[in-house]
Amino acid sequence: MKILTVLGNRPQFVKASAVSVPLRDRVEETLVHTGQHYDRQLSDVFFEELGLPLPDHELGVGSGSHAEQTGETMIRLEPLVEEHHPDAVLVYGDTNATLAAALVAAKLLVPLAHVEAGMRSFDRRMPEEVNRLAADRLGGLLLCSTAAAVENLRAEGLGDRVRLVGDVMADVALRVGPIADRRSHAHERYGLERGSYLLATAHRTGNVDDPAALGQLVDLLASAAERFGPLLFPVHPRTAARLTTSGLRERLERAPGVRLCEPLGYLDFACLVRGATAVLTDSGGLQKEAYLAGVPCVTLREETEWVETVEAGWNCLAGRDAQRALASLASLIDRRREEHPDPSIYGDGEAGHRCVEELLGWLENQRASTPAGR
Ligand code: UD1
Repeated sequence: MKILTVLGNRPQFVKASAVSVPLRDRVEETLVHTGQHYDRQLSDVFFEELGLPLPDHELGVGSGSHAEQTGETMIRLEPLVEEHHPDAVLVYGDTNATLAAALVAAKLLVPLAHVEAGMRSFDRRMPEEVNRLAADRLGGLLLCSTAAAVENLRAEGLGDRVRLVGDVMADVALRVGPIADRRSHAHERYGLERGSYLLATAHRTGNVDDPAALGQLVDLLASAAERFGPLLFPVHPRTAARLTTSGLRERLERAPGVRLCEPLGYLDFACLVRGATAVLTDSGGLQKEAYLAGVPCVTLREETEWVETVEAGWNCLAGRDAQRALASLASLIDRRREEHPDPSIYGDGEAGHRCVEELLGWLENQRASTPAGR
């Protein structure tokens, strides 16, 4: 059996590292890197640190508009899928690489499996939401991280394709977190003391593309650092570019207690998350990683796909409103916690193995039900 996996950017490298290793014990996998993320700090370092097999093919798509990125990926991927004749194409999450690969597989009549299916923000202004809706509609096997994702897909009439496997990113966080604590020297490098700093990230188009929105975000981070700092802000390339063009970078750099740095590798970042007083972010993955580490999170959005973290009291939604963010931080940090978060809401650390079992079982069933000669 042959599986062709398509990855394009940072969160997908993390997710695939939980699946590709057990998958290769059972079948032949071809790994395609679309090149949506190409900087060393956004790409290579994740392959090195997480033991993800190196790509068999690199498409070199790079940056561009949504149409350029998606279209270029489709054009370069289609001949590879035709050449390899995989039994299934495997995609992750909600990026332009996911959408492009889902469309190519569907048009070539190759079965499509989608890991982290069923996540919804119910906000179609997010490009990721559009990508998720399309990938789930086209997928024949929808592998879900959470019970909420299963419910979302049932409500869309896709319940018969769904399997609840747990969260593959949680597998990696639980496995690699303690290793990161031992190996990373990030605290020393940035002069931070465990348990007494904030960690922030932001890259969503809704937060950073519009200078007015970015200005609110800069003010929010400055206020958080002033009251609860210091605050370390590893800057995503999209955000770095927008900070420069809008002239806001200097304002942020000059804010007392704020320190900007380059995007970090998985080990350094995991170590910093685990040692933070709290995190502020618009990333989906980081909301989960903070929860699993028992670190409170303030989400810089008005909604989240990871609703369990909010329901459990570890995550507050604050949008870009500095007052709401400060109030959330105060309540989350001050709350005395007698219990640790329950990691089982994201599975038992074996989601990657379960994805492999479900994928192979699904393909066997399809083979068995296809009449001979077809
Ligand atoms: C993409 C995903 C998002 C995911 C995020 C993880 C989509 C629609 N969005 O957003 O869901 O959470 O990746 O980081 O697919 N750039 C570099 N170096 C790189 C890659 C990008 O400098 O290695 C710059 C480019 O100038 C580009 C910008 O960053 O314009 C944004 O990259 P892009 O791939 O468009 O999307 P992300 O914002 O990273």
